[in-house]
Amino acid sequence: MAEIKTVGILGAGKVGIVLAQLALKAGYNVRISGSGSVQKIALTIETLVPGAIASTNQGVVSKSDIILLAIPLSRYKNINSKLLKGKLVIDAMNYWWETDGIREEVLDPSLTSSEQVQQYFSKSTLVKTFNHMGYHNLQEDARPEGADDRKALFVTGNDHEAVDEVADFVNTMGFDTVIHYNLADGIMTEPGSELFGASLSKADLQNVIDHFDETEFGKKIKEAHEEQKQ
Ligand SMILES: NC(=O)c1ccc[n+]([C@@H]2O[C@H](COP(=O)([O-])OP(=O)(O)OC[C@H]3O[C@@H](n4cnc5c(N)ncnc54)[C@H](OP(=O)(O)O)[C@@H]3O)[C@@H](O)[C@H]2O)c1
Repeated sequence: MAEIKTVGILGAGKVGIVLAQLALKAGYNVRISGSGSVQKIALTIETLVPGAIASTNQGVVSKSDIILLAIPLSRYKNINSKLLKGKLVIDAMNYWWETDGIREEVLDPSLTSSEQVQQYFSKSTLVKTFNHMGYHNLQEDARPEGADDRKALFVTGNDHEAVDEVADFVNTMGFDTVIHYNLADGIMTEPGSELFGASLSKADLQNVIDHFDETEFGKKIKEAHEEQKQ
């Protein structure tokens, strides 16, 4: 895959802005868009992320080497799936009832959110990360590699090469990683899981992931899978 020079962020809200700040600090070029006109976000970007380029979704995607989806989950189908064709895409989204409304209207209960996003963007390679840490923690807990108090993010997806590339990217953004090669394992960090909202060291994150089936949420997911099989 091509070297990452420009990071494209769809969504100029809380998470999008923080990820843009981290990416700029890490030395990447950054392009970012919101749902409306460029003018609508231009001043915010100039003020909060000086150096990043406010653009349209099209302008972000066409000029970026990696795309971060940082929009409400209920809105991803507003983006034409063809726009992201051939792109490496990070899914930082979660279902959140206050923003997204009734879950069944947004998600098929039999699949994880990232599997559904991948199905929709079927010509893109999706990797899930940055979703389980709150934006304040993403902003405040990023550290250079090797720092004693560094935190970790879970990175998972079906394409090994893409997962490894995204894990390297996450490392440059200030976090250690715990890696899985299965997009469906994104469930381990979805809302309701012990890891949702958590900012943990790599050892602690690894420990929860390794014992996911023993967590309350993990037990519920296991039961649901068993019911589905019957
Ligand atoms: N908040 C957190 O701590 C946190 C942490 C990790 C992950 N996440 C996840 O990240 C996503 C964004 O959360 P947030 O808290 O940053 O939300 P937010 O503050 O409401 O920001 C969402 C942004 O997405 C933009 N947007 C909506 N539809 C769009 C489209 N079709 N194209 C481009 N931009 C679009 C919105 O633009 P307009 O304002 O113009 O509509 C807004 O700038 C959610 O899925 C959330 O679950 C959140």
